Amino acid sequence: MKTLSVNLGERSYPIHIGQGLLQRPDLITGHVRGRQVMVVSNETVAPLYLDSVQQLFGDFNLESVILPDGEQYKTLDTLNRVFDALLEKRFNRSCTLVALGGGVVGDITGFAAASYQRGVGFLQIPTTLLAQVDSSVGGKTGVNHALGKNMIGAFYQPGCVLIDTDSLDTLDDRQLAAGLAEVIKYGLIRDTGFFDWLEAHVEELIARDKTALGYAIERSCTIKAEIVAADERESGQRALLNLGHTFGHAIETGTGYGSWLHGEAVATGMLMAADLSARHQWLAPAEVRRIEALLQHAGLPTRAPKEMDEARFMDLMAVDKKVIDGGLRLVLLKALGDAVISSDFQPALLSETLGAAA
Ligand code: NAD
Ligand code: GLY
Repeated sequence: MKTLSVNLGERSYPIHIGQGLLQRPDLITGHVRGRQVMVVSNETVAPLYLDSVQQLFGDFNLESVILPDGEQYKTLDTLNRVFDALLEKRFNRSCTLVALGGGVVGDITGFAAASYQRGVGFLQIPTTLLAQVDSSVGGKTGVNHALGKNMIGAFYQPGCVLIDTDSLDTLDDRQLAAGLAEVIKYGLIRDTGFFDWLEAHVEELIARDKTALGYAIERSCTIKAEIVAADERESGQRALLNLGHTFGHAIETGTGYGSWLHGEAVATGMLMAADLSARHQWLAPAEVRRIEALLQHAGLPTRAPKEMDEARFMDLMAVDKKVIDGGLRLVLLKALGDAVISSDFQPALLSETLGAAA
């Protein structure tokens, strides 16, 4: 087992990574606030892991709320179901919400914890690769709006992240690949050595080799923890974690939430960011081909859907959270392993990238 730390002063918290951790109450129960624990999960994950989690918190007054499964349910209506359950069960201010599931459950639960009675305890037990390497760490929480992804939310850090890598055994291949997109992101933005390692070990990762997956999760969480500790509220470098997301969120919103997985849209978006970087001659065409080959080996899409023409992209990207005073900012690559956030791109070249994306 490995334990990392997200260093945020008195709000610092551990990330435990390893096999069999759902049988380790000693790692998580010390972070519970109060005696009332509400486990929030969904109809797919609960049948698989709720029993284990109920045993993990056996000493507490435990309740659960089971949400419908899917990105299309990451809404205010679903959030309200969590509040309904908390109020029906008379949960008070001194209680803890536990997110058991992927990024959708984690983001909804975190926002519920941030806003229920102005803030209660919050723990993360992520069960998808994407949630284990990205969404469970760093405290971004929230829900979607029909007009834009993750538009309603709050920064709210968990008290502990418990990553049992055994939970990946039940994840399907498409979801595993979606998580690999965010893993590849860390190599692209910050760590060429890790990118090289991913190229060399992608077959082991898709074959679910536990050692390779464990290392990929640990390296990803280490990079994310460093970035979050340095810029919790995204006033600077945290925005680099959004490589590919401006294009990707447009694909997710434009195709209807749930049709493209978040990781799939990010994969295509990262290749679009690489393409635009190459059009500015920051990346060599051979480097773009390396990125494309790695994404494809991981089983990820690299072409945008046909319905996403330039006008549709521009319309949807206008609501991106990185837009300031109407100006679009994009995360681009000055080199492999060296991302920048920039409004200093040529609109004509962006137009070429958008036109060539499908
Ligand atoms: P998800 O939560 O929809 O989970 C994917 C699917 O896998 C779902 O059907 C889920 O029920 C199922 N599942 C989960 N764990 C399983 C398991 N162990 N075995 C079998 N099935 C399992 O999707 P995701 O990819 O985990 O997360 C995507 C969401 O995360 C998006 O909404 C995205 O915006 C958000 N996100 C947030 C952050 C952040 O910093 N907060 C970062 C990245 C992504
Ligand atoms: N997933 C982007 C962030 O946490 O900042």
